[in-house]
Amino acid sequence: MSTADIGLIGLAVMGSNLALNIAENGYTVAVHNRTASKTDEFVAGAGALRDKIIPQPYLKEFVESIARPRSIIIMVQAGKPVDQTIEQLLPLLDEGDAILECGNANFHDTVRRFEELRPKGIGFLGVGVSGGEEGARHGPSIMVGGSKQQWHNAEKVLTDIAAKFNGESCCAYLGEGGAGHFVKTIHNGIEYADMQMIAEVYAVMRDGLGMNPKACAEVFKEWNKGPLNSYLIEITGHVLDAIDEETGKPLIELILDKAGQKGTGRWSAIAAQELAVPATTIEGAVAARSISALKSERIAAERTYGARTSAKSDVSLETLEKALLAGKIAAYAQGFAVMSKASEENGWDLPLGTIARIWRAGCIIRSRFLDQMAAAYDKGEAVNLLMVPDFVELMKANHGALRQVVAAGALGEFPLPCLSSALAYFDGYRQATGTANLIQGQRDFFGAHGFVIEGRGEDLHYKWPSTLGN
Ligand code: 6PG
Repeated sequence: MSTADIGLIGLAVMGSNLALNIAENGYTVAVHNRTASKTDEFVAGAGALRDKIIPQPYLKEFVESIARPRSIIIMVQAGKPVDQTIEQLLPLLDEGDAILECGNANFHDTVRRFEELRPKGIGFLGVGVSGGEEGARHGPSIMVGGSKQQWHNAEKVLTDIAAKFNGESCCAYLGEGGAGHFVKTIHNGIEYADMQMIAEVYAVMRDGLGMNPKACAEVFKEWNKGPLNSYLIEITGHVLDAIDEETGKPLIELILDKAGQKGTGRWSAIAAQELAVPATTIEGAVAARSISALKSERIAAERTYGARTSAKSDVSLETLEKALLAGKIAAYAQGFAVMSKASEENGWDLPLGTIARIWRAGCIIRSRFLDQMAAAYDKGEAVNLLMVPDFVELMKANHGALRQVVAAGALGEFPLPCLSSALAYFDGYRQATGTANLIQGQRDFFGAHGFVIEGRGEDLHYKWPSTLGN
């Protein structure tokens, strides 16, 4: 029986597309799925790639058909199914083999699995795979973390199947333990923020400028030729252009305005909070999805308070474009700041320049300015992206537009949680003298928590009056 270069368990959408990608890149891939009929279906649809695929209905034979040291990709539903699959595999593996978990796992689970398997001599790689179905099939961005030794065993396959940007593979090893899945989580946090801000600009177009979906689609297609050039802007043009076959109406007008979320965006917001790194635009995007889920409450509240009645917005399309660019930069700045702090806290030494580079193609947030980010991080310029010369110029040129849109949104009764938070983040970050001194006074008043007076000392206190009278 021929041996496979690599194994893959889990032939749902992402798994089956990744397996076809591996086969198309000339590797022999053994495949297994809990439901054997799924494996049969997959093989039947593999076409010319069939001879690079070894279907294995039984797990033991599946493992035995893979050349050692084995690399076995698992792409099953995040959570318990991953642990169950690992449990079934363990007795069949030999020292030096590795499991590559390529789903959207919570990085805490990845760290736990990495630590549990290490004493058994089994490598564990937590691999973030971004780009959806299309990416899995033709080239995702691949963010690898975990056992460095076993990374080298799988490096060539993963590097070959990843997306390419100017011939460079969008796959990299990012650090031990949960580094890969953590970076994927932050990728998704930025993705949420990006998508939310696009939806907010669409709200101003639709409700403030009275534009129909077709007109909005044309604008996004135009914007995709300029500084906003990115996958999300490109697909937004298609989503707004889509026509429902059944009714002939614009599909966007039929889709219910309740956003789903499988959890990755939320995890990125939790990570930012745990690391005490401000990521208000990412957090705002998660909250916006949660508010969108409150459809019945929103209907009742509109009945109570009345719908927005403000006049048409007088924001120009050019201003919207510039505002979106500024908002995007703030969101990426937040995401990279979270990764930078997490890198310190976890001892990962995350290569931020490499991360920006492997996001230039294949992943959902791929966009034109990631190249500039990569260069900035490589030069070691960036404390925060807002301080990188290229982005300083862009923010100086565009924050006025962001301010205008946020102001128009407030006066026009538009909920713009992410554009507003991006502006507040920018204004807060570049304000040398804020007003947290008042908070320090309040904290010392009720809790004697102390405050600093420069040149006099730390943990100082004041004799506050008693408030017994109130
Ligand atoms: C990617 C996407 C993908 C995402 C799903 C659903 O990078 O390819 O981020 O991994 O998880 O599309 O995500 P949500 O349900 O959280 O929107």
